[in-house]
Amino acid sequence: MTTPFVIAVDGPAASGKGTLSRRLATQYGLRHLDTGLSYRAVAHALLSADLSLEDEAQAVEAAREVDFAGLDPLVLSTHEVGEAASRVSVHPAVRRVLVEKQRDFARVAPGAVLDGRDIGTVVCPDADVKLYVTASPQVRAGRRHREILRLGGQAEYGAILADIERRDARDMGRADSPLRPAADSHLLDTSGMSIEAAFLAACAIVDEALGAKN
Ligand code: CDP
Repeated sequence: MTTPFVIAVDGPAASGKGTLSRRLATQYGLRHLDTGLSYRAVAHALLSADLSLEDEAQAVEAAREVDFAGLDPLVLSTHEVGEAASRVSVHPAVRRVLVEKQRDFARVAPGAVLDGRDIGTVVCPDADVKLYVTASPQVRAGRRHREILRLGGQAEYGAILADIERRDARDMGRADSPLRPAADSHLLDTSGMSIEAAFLAACAIVDEALGAKN
Protein backbone atom coordinates (compact mmCIF):
# COMPACT_ATOMS: atom_id res chain seq x y z
CA MET A 1 0.00 0.00 0.00
CA THR A 2 1.61 3.31 -1.02
CA THR A 3 -0.77 6.05 0.11
CA PRO A 4 -1.76 6.24 3.81
CA PHE A 5 -4.98 4.41 4.74
CA VAL A 6 -7.33 6.67 6.70
CA ILE A 7 -10.38 5.71 8.76
CA ALA A 8 -12.62 8.60 9.87
CA VAL A 9 -14.84 7.93 12.89
CA ASP A 10 -17.41 10.55 13.88
CA GLY A 11 -20.24 10.60 16.36
CA PRO A 12 -21.77 12.30 19.38
CA ALA A 13 -20.61 12.24 23.02
CA ALA A 14 -20.41 8.79 24.64
CA SER A 15 -21.27 6.94 21.42
CA GLY A 16 -18.35 4.56 21.91
CA LYS A 17 -16.33 5.95 19.01
CA GLY A 18 -13.15 6.27 21.10
CA THR A 19 -13.05 2.62 22.15
CA LEU A 20 -13.95 1.51 18.64
CA SER A 21 -11.25 3.71 17.08
CA ARG A 22 -8.52 2.45 19.39
CA ARG A 23 -9.42 -1.16 18.60
CA LEU A 24 -9.50 -0.50 14.86
CA ALA A 25 -6.06 1.17 15.02
CA THR A 26 -4.60 -1.88 16.81
CA GLN A 27 -6.30 -4.32 14.48
CA TYR A 28 -5.04 -2.66 11.28
CA GLY A 29 -1.64 -1.38 12.51
CA LEU A 30 -2.62 2.28 12.11
CA ARG A 31 -1.89 5.29 14.33
CA HIS A 32 -4.77 6.72 16.34
CA LEU A 33 -5.76 10.31 17.13
CA ASP A 34 -8.63 11.29 19.42
CA THR A 35 -9.24 14.79 18.02
CA GLY A 36 -11.55 15.60 20.93
CA LEU A 37 -8.46 15.64 23.13
CA SER A 38 -6.99 18.46 21.03
CA TYR A 39 -10.08 20.65 21.67
CA ARG A 40 -9.94 19.59 25.31
CA ALA A 41 -6.27 20.67 25.48
CA VAL A 42 -7.21 24.17 24.28
CA ALA A 43 -10.03 24.37 26.83
CA HIS A 44 -7.74 23.12 29.59
CA ALA A 45 -5.08 25.73 28.74
CA LEU A 46 -7.66 28.55 28.96
CA LEU A 47 -9.19 27.24 32.20
CA SER A 48 -5.75 26.83 33.81
CA ALA A 49 -4.75 30.41 32.92
CA ASP A 50 -8.11 31.72 34.14
CA LEU A 51 -8.93 33.05 30.66
CA SER A 52 -12.40 33.34 29.14
CA LEU A 53 -13.56 30.50 26.87
CA GLU A 54 -15.05 33.16 24.59
CA ASP A 55 -11.62 34.76 23.99
CA GLU A 56 -10.94 33.58 20.44
CA ALA A 57 -7.46 35.15 20.15
CA GLN A 58 -6.21 33.43 23.31
CA ALA A 59 -7.85 30.18 22.24
CA VAL A 60 -6.03 30.32 18.88
CA GLU A 61 -2.74 30.90 20.74
CA ALA A 62 -3.47 27.83 22.87
CA ALA A 63 -4.39 25.79 19.77
CA ARG A 64 -1.02 26.63 18.14
CA GLU A 65 0.75 25.29 21.25
CA VAL A 66 -1.10 21.95 21.26
CA ASP A 67 1.30 19.03 20.82
CA PHE A 68 -0.50 15.79 19.92
CA ALA A 69 2.33 13.72 21.40
CA GLY A 70 1.80 15.29 24.81
CA LEU A 71 -1.99 15.03 25.25
CA ASP A 72 -2.73 13.49 28.65
CA PRO A 73 -6.17 11.80 28.70
CA LEU A 74 -6.11 11.62 32.50
CA VAL A 75 -5.87 15.40 32.86
CA LEU A 76 -8.14 16.16 29.90
CA SER A 77 -11.00 13.70 30.37
CA THR A 78 -12.84 15.50 33.18
CA HIS A 79 -16.44 16.53 32.72
CA GLU A 80 -15.58 20.23 33.19
CA VAL A 81 -12.94 20.16 30.44
CA GLY A 82 -15.33 18.34 28.05
CA GLU A 83 -17.99 20.96 28.52
CA ALA A 84 -15.43 23.75 28.02
CA ALA A 85 -14.07 21.98 24.90
CA SER A 86 -17.50 22.01 23.33
CA ARG A 87 -17.56 25.79 23.89
CA VAL A 88 -14.09 26.62 22.50
CA SER A 89 -14.64 24.35 19.51
CA VAL A 90 -17.23 26.76 18.08
CA HIS A 91 -14.48 29.31 17.22
CA PRO A 92 -13.68 28.90 13.49
CA ALA A 93 -10.10 30.16 13.91
CA VAL A 94 -9.41 27.53 16.59
CA ARG A 95 -10.80 24.83 14.33
CA ARG A 96 -8.60 25.97 11.40
CA VAL A 97 -5.42 25.61 13.47
CA LEU A 98 -6.33 22.19 14.90
CA VAL A 99 -7.70 20.81 11.61
CA GLU A 100 -4.36 21.57 9.86
CA LYS A 101 -2.48 19.65 12.55
CA GLN A 102 -4.96 16.76 12.35
CA ARG A 103 -4.50 16.56 8.57
CA ASP A 104 -0.72 16.44 9.01
CA PHE A 105 -1.20 13.53 11.42
CA ALA A 106 -3.40 11.64 8.94
CA ARG A 107 -0.89 12.06 6.08
CA VAL A 108 1.89 10.02 7.70
CA ALA A 109 2.31 6.37 6.54
CA PRO A 110 0.89 3.81 7.09
CA GLY A 111 -2.20 5.90 7.89
CA ALA A 112 -4.42 6.51 10.87
CA VAL A 113 -7.77 6.28 12.58
CA LEU A 114 -9.04 9.72 13.59
CA ASP A 115 -12.11 10.13 15.74
CA GLY A 116 -14.11 13.27 16.37
CA ARG A 117 -17.07 15.24 15.06
CA ASP A 118 -15.97 16.52 11.63
CA ILE A 119 -13.38 14.00 10.43
CA GLY A 120 -15.37 12.59 7.50
CA THR A 121 -16.86 15.96 6.54
CA VAL A 122 -13.98 18.44 6.99
CA VAL A 123 -10.66 17.02 8.24
CA CYS A 124 -10.35 13.98 5.93
CA PRO A 125 -13.11 14.18 3.31
CA ASP A 126 -11.14 11.66 1.19
CA ALA A 127 -10.83 9.06 3.97
CA ASP A 128 -10.85 5.44 2.77
CA VAL A 129 -13.53 4.52 5.32
CA LYS A 130 -16.00 6.80 7.10
CA LEU A 131 -17.97 5.55 10.08
CA TYR A 132 -20.68 7.48 11.90
CA VAL A 133 -21.11 5.88 15.30
CA THR A 134 -24.19 6.75 17.29
CA ALA A 135 -26.68 5.51 19.88
CA SER A 136 -29.78 7.00 21.45
CA PRO A 137 -29.16 9.73 24.06
CA GLN A 138 -30.64 7.42 26.74
CA VAL A 139 -28.27 4.57 25.90
CA ARG A 140 -25.28 6.93 25.81
CA ALA A 141 -26.23 8.49 29.15
CA GLY A 142 -26.62 5.01 30.67
CA ARG A 143 -23.16 3.97 29.45
CA ARG A 144 -21.50 7.09 30.81
CA HIS A 145 -23.38 6.74 34.11
CA ARG A 146 -22.22 3.14 34.59
CA GLU A 147 -18.66 4.08 33.68
CA ILE A 148 -18.56 6.83 36.34
CA LEU A 149 -20.00 4.49 38.99
CA ARG A 150 -17.54 1.76 38.00
CA LEU A 151 -14.65 4.17 38.54
CA GLY A 152 -15.97 4.91 42.03
CA GLY A 153 -17.45 8.32 41.20
CA GLN A 154 -20.93 9.69 41.85
CA ALA A 155 -23.37 10.90 39.25
CA GLU A 156 -27.06 11.19 38.59
CA TYR A 157 -28.44 9.62 35.39
CA GLY A 158 -30.84 12.52 34.73
CA ALA A 159 -28.05 15.10 34.96
CA ILE A 160 -25.86 13.10 32.55
CA LEU A 161 -28.71 12.76 30.05
CA ALA A 162 -29.37 16.51 30.20
CA ASP A 163 -25.67 17.17 29.67
CA ILE A 164 -25.51 14.84 26.65
CA GLU A 165 -28.56 16.46 25.09
CA ARG A 166 -27.10 19.95 25.62
CA ARG A 167 -23.76 18.89 24.09
CA ASP A 168 -25.50 17.26 21.10
CA ALA A 169 -27.47 20.44 20.46
CA ARG A 170 -24.33 22.58 20.60
CA ASP A 171 -22.19 20.21 18.45
CA MET A 172 -24.92 19.67 15.85
CA GLY A 173 -26.16 23.25 15.81
CA ARG A 174 -22.94 25.24 15.43
CA ALA A 175 -22.30 27.10 12.18
CA ASP A 176 -18.75 25.85 11.56
CA SER A 177 -18.31 22.09 11.01
CA PRO A 178 -21.44 20.86 12.79
CA LEU A 179 -21.62 17.20 13.77
CA ARG A 180 -23.38 15.30 10.98
CA PRO A 181 -22.77 12.11 9.01
CA ALA A 182 -20.80 12.57 5.77
CA ALA A 183 -22.90 11.59 2.75
CA ASP A 184 -20.66 8.58 2.12
CA SER A 185 -20.36 7.41 5.74
CA HIS A 186 -21.48 4.04 7.09
CA LEU A 187 -23.96 4.48 9.92
CA LEU A 188 -23.31 2.31 12.99
CA ASP A 189 -26.12 2.60 15.53
CA THR A 190 -24.75 0.84 18.61
CA SER A 191 -27.88 1.28 20.78
CA GLY A 192 -28.50 -2.46 20.95
CA MET A 193 -24.94 -3.59 20.24
CA SER A 194 -22.05 -4.69 22.45
CA ILE A 195 -18.62 -3.16 21.88
CA GLU A 196 -17.55 -6.47 20.34
CA ALA A 197 -20.48 -6.48 17.89
CA ALA A 198 -19.78 -2.86 16.88
CA PHE A 199 -16.11 -3.71 16.38
CA LEU A 200 -16.90 -6.71 14.16
CA ALA A 201 -19.37 -4.67 12.09
CA ALA A 202 -16.73 -1.95 11.62
CA CYS A 203 -14.05 -4.52 10.66
CA ALA A 204 -16.30 -5.91 7.92
CA ILE A 205 -16.60 -2.40 6.44
CA VAL A 206 -12.85 -1.74 6.70
CA ASP A 207 -11.95 -5.12 5.18
CA GLU A 208 -14.08 -4.38 2.17
CA ALA A 209 -12.41 -0.99 1.66
CA LEU A 210 -8.95 -2.54 2.06
CA GLY A 211 -9.83 -5.17 -0.52
CA ALA A 212 -10.91 -2.48 -2.96
CA LYS A 213 -7.73 -0.43 -2.39
CA ASN A 214 -5.22 -3.28 -2.80
O1 CDP B 1 -15.61 12.09 24.61
P1 CDP B 1 -16.66 13.14 24.42
O2 CDP B 1 -17.60 12.80 23.34
O3 CDP B 1 -17.31 13.58 25.68
O4 CDP B 1 -15.94 14.44 23.93
P2 CDP B 1 -14.69 14.63 22.97
O5 CDP B 1 -14.77 13.72 21.78
O6 CDP B 1 -13.46 14.57 23.79
O7 CDP B 1 -14.93 16.12 22.43
C1 CDP B 1 -15.11 17.21 23.29
C2 CDP B 1 -15.73 18.36 22.50
O8 CDP B 1 -14.79 18.80 21.50
C3 CDP B 1 -17.00 17.98 21.72
O9 CDP B 1 -18.18 18.20 22.45
C4 CDP B 1 -16.93 18.88 20.49
O10 CDP B 1 -17.60 20.10 20.71
C5 CDP B 1 -15.47 19.17 20.31
N1 CDP B 1 -14.89 18.47 19.15
C6 CDP B 1 -15.04 19.05 17.90
O11 CDP B 1 -15.66 20.10 17.77
N2 CDP B 1 -14.49 18.48 16.80
C7 CDP B 1 -13.81 17.32 16.89
N3 CDP B 1 -13.26 16.80 15.79
C8 CDP B 1 -13.68 16.68 18.15
C9 CDP B 1 -14.25 17.28 19.27
